[in-house]
Amino acid sequence: MIPEPAENVLKAIAIRGLRKFYDHHAVVDGIDLTIPAGEFFGLLGPNGAGKTTTLRMLLGLTPIDAGTVHVLGRPMPECEREISSRLGVVPQFDTLDPDFTVEENLLTYASYFGLSRAALGNRIDELLEQANLENRRGSRISALSGGMKRRLTLARALINEPELVILDEPTTGLDPQARHHLWRQLRALRKRGVTLVLTTHYMEEAEELCDRVAIIDAGRIIACASPAELIAAHVEPWVISLNAASARRFIADPATLPARMLEIADTWLIYTHEPGAVRAELDTAGLPHATRASNLEDVFLKLTGHDLRD
Ligand SMILES: Nc1ncnc2c1ncn2[C@@H]1O[C@H](COP(=O)(O)OP(=O)(O)OP(=O)(O)O)[C@@H](O)[C@H]1O
Ligand SMILES: [Mg+2]
Repeated sequence: MIPEPAENVLKAIAIRGLRKFYDHHAVVDGIDLTIPAGEFFGLLGPNGAGKTTTLRMLLGLTPIDAGTVHVLGRPMPECEREISSRLGVVPQFDTLDPDFTVEENLLTYASYFGLSRAALGNRIDELLEQANLENRRGSRISALSGGMKRRLTLARALINEPELVILDEPTTGLDPQARHHLWRQLRALRKRGVTLVLTTHYMEEAEELCDRVAIIDAGRIIACASPAELIAAHVEPWVISLNAASARRFIADPATLPARMLEIADTWLIYTHEPGAVRAELDTAGLPHATRASNLEDVFLKLTGHDLRD
């Protein structure tokens, strides 16, 4: 059972029994989820798990086949127009208009909400400043780096001062500096009480930003809690990594190790409550190894397996 926020909490999103079928196959297969207002929530899951399809149904971009969706207290798709005016969206793939400049992209998007240049006041200046794009106001989109385009897309999503911002893989392909910059922009939203729903393949990002995360696999939520709760509930506190090829020469049968083991590509990951005992054994065998605290990625690997998906 997934713990649900208390009934009296203001809900930004309430999803019940949500389903989507493609070619008679359920790609979203009965999702129940409540996200209280003000929460930063992460949707995690392997490629093809159904994250984007779920978000698209929340946004009215993909028809709902079964179940109900309420966004900001209003039903989708019946109240799509009203909901859209209170939402900000950063889609998985870039949708900036390449024929317009940075500023023109913001102005055009604002006009969808009926916001004229006069009504915007100095909002565009503020957004460009937050996005560190003040000097790029007149640049064409094709002249921007990937990081700049992502920051502009977030600035565009904030033009209508949304109560809820939905971001599908906002930092995919960004370098560490650009990612940290975007995180800072997102954290600033928390202070204003904005609700945030994001998908990411970066577990560190989810741990850094999200109050709670749901792990989706094959269209179903298989776990939902805070990152710390998920780590405590699903994985041993320590993980020791070592090179698989050399380990195999010394340890004929990994099942004899006093710990759970996962082999990923060229690495063995040994999960344990007692790292000392395992390390002593590896030292005796002369095997180099490294120890770290377990994290959300370890939970993800355990719950979704480690085969490639798409
Ligand atoms: N328009 C469509 N027609 C047919 N199948 C689709 C369509 N859109 C998505 N799918 C399928 O639905 C499944 C879920 O896709 P979705 O894009 O929601 O996954 P995702 O979790 O966002 O994956 P990723 O992490 O790769 O972005 C996939 O198997 C995908 O091929
Ligand atoms: Mg996706």
